[in-house]
Amino acid sequence: MTREIQSAYLAAEGLLDPLLQELEGTTGVHNQLVLSSQPAKNAHWAQNIWRNPQVFHIDSISDAAKQLKALQRNWCLYSHTLHRRAKLIRDKLPPVNSKPMRFPSLLSASPLGSFTLLDENTLLASTDCSSPFPNGEAHFVEDKNGPPNRAYLKLYEALTLTGTTPQPGEFCIDVGGSPGGWAWVIHQCDAEVLSIDRSPLSPSVAELKGVSFQKRDAFTLLPEELENRRIDWIFSDIICYPEKLYDWILKWVESGVCKNFICTIKFKGEPDLAIADKFAAIPGSHVRHLFHNKNELTWFKLGDPAA
Ligand SMILES: C[S@@+](CC[C@H](N)C(=O)[O-])C[C@H]1O[C@@H](n2cnc3c(N)ncnc32)[C@H](O)[C@@H]1O
Repeated sequence: MTREIQSAYLAAEGLLDPLLQELEGTTGVHNQLVLSSQPAKNAHWAQNIWRNPQVFHIDSISDAAKQLKALQRNWCLYSHTLHRRAKLIRDKLPPVNSKPMRFPSLLSASPLGSFTLLDENTLLASTDCSSPFPNGEAHFVEDKNGPPNRAYLKLYEALTLTGTTPQPGEFCIDVGGSPGGWAWVIHQCDAEVLSIDRSPLSPSVAELKGVSFQKRDAFTLLPEELENRRIDWIFSDIICYPEKLYDWILKWVESGVCKNFICTIKFKGEPDLAIADKFAAIPGSHVRHLFHNKNELTWFKLGDPAA
């Protein structure tokens, strides 16, 4: 049975169902870890994708650690059974930094693999995982005073994954921006932000240098209105039907006026896989579920508008 495993997918807590719907060839589910007999695919709802995992026979805890270390240095345990044995293997491996990250931080250049015990003498391990964070969990040093809510953590994670941030002096549009967690992050990056929402920004954000605000329906803002302005980033965290966001964002993508986009796609009840695929099909873009996303996905498009 174990020889059939060609990929594995870790679901976020409470979000196993949408992941299972995306996958074919499921051969086993171990808590949040789904094993598949099919080659790895970019499953949007996976918090971490284990590509080409290998199955090892292990004689002992030391033997397991030895076999893992022979492959690479950094490993993260996903423990769903035999927790004590799994932890003893992990403790024999080189330490991996698990401290919350400061924003902004560059991701480590050393790959982080994942392993789990399938039974006492069988280990599943992948050196090629989609997430640079242990089990896809992006923990940051939190700021309890600056931002008006916890939405800033979602943007911290998204920007950390892209390996870039808005640069000093860049101009960003932040739709569905209230009460201002994302605008606060953009301000931290020394970029300029126009936040648009039907509700006001929190006064502590509204008064920050480089932050401006328009109270309006964001979908009425079209590229023609800002024709003479360079736009470096469009961010959206609007609560709306995904189709509505898709139609609006496509106008901006096709206009070519902006190069970078990060937008959350929010679902009410059952997630719609077709619309997520539609977003992912926009050239040069991808969709993924962030650790700080709930029943939502994040769409990324970065790069040159003409690319
Ligand atoms: C999840 S909240 C955004 C949180 C924000 N990103 C932050 O960091 O604080 C979603 C926002 O979308 C706004 N919204 C929903 N429909 C909108 C529309 N058509 N135009 C503008 N804002 C809209 C809501 O008023 C709400 O403030």
